[in-house]
Amino acid sequence: MFGVVRVTQAFVDLLQKSLQPRIVNVTSGLASLTLHNDPTWKYYNVKAAVYNPSKAALNMYTIALAYELRDTPFKVNAVDPGFTATDFNQHSGPGTVEDAAARLVKYATIDADGPTGKFFSDDNSPETGESPW
Ligand SMILES: NC(=O)c1ccc[n+]([C@@H]2O[C@H](COP(=O)([O-])OP(=O)(O)OC[C@H]3O[C@@H](n4cnc5c(N)ncnc54)[C@H](OP(=O)(O)O)[C@@H]3O)[C@@H](O)[C@H]2O)c1
Repeated sequence: MFGVVRVTQAFVDLLQKSLQPRIVNVTSGLASLTLHNDPTWKYYNVKAAVYNPSKAALNMYTIALAYELRDTPFKVNAVDPGFTATDFNQHSGPGTVEDAAARLVKYATIDADGPTGKFFSDDNSPETGESPW
């Protein structure tokens, strides 16, 4: 989490030179405080004690950064790549790396009418893509 803040601070001056600066914080569907309070949610029992809070903190940072940059061309969003087969989970995730990357690139390339300060997770909200916080 603090690494994300340091990386953002390191790159923000360079991003300001862009006509359409975009920041995509790679979060997780497991960051949702709302869904973690819903016993019917399929990941309700996945209470990873460090990982989930670190992503919830990243989501809060996304809100704060989007607010800080609200009067600029920046768009800052938190995006869940989805449960993906990687080393992180011994390749148990059902999604492909290609699909996960596409979910992130979508928000790295949104235009000036695009959202900012939002939490997107196709896994949590397949219909709208926007996850409850
Ligand atoms: N996989 C999923 O199902 C899933 C779901 C939701 C969210 N995510 C998020 O997606 C992101 C990528 O996850 P992943 O599944 O690809 O994990 P991964 O397979 O464990 O890969 C993590 C990558 O991050 C690099 N890394 C770790 N610490 C670093 C550091 N301090 N500086 C630079 N690079 C560092 C690692 O490099 P080395 O190999 O050199 O150590 C590795 O390439 C993470 O933020 C994860 O929380 C993943």
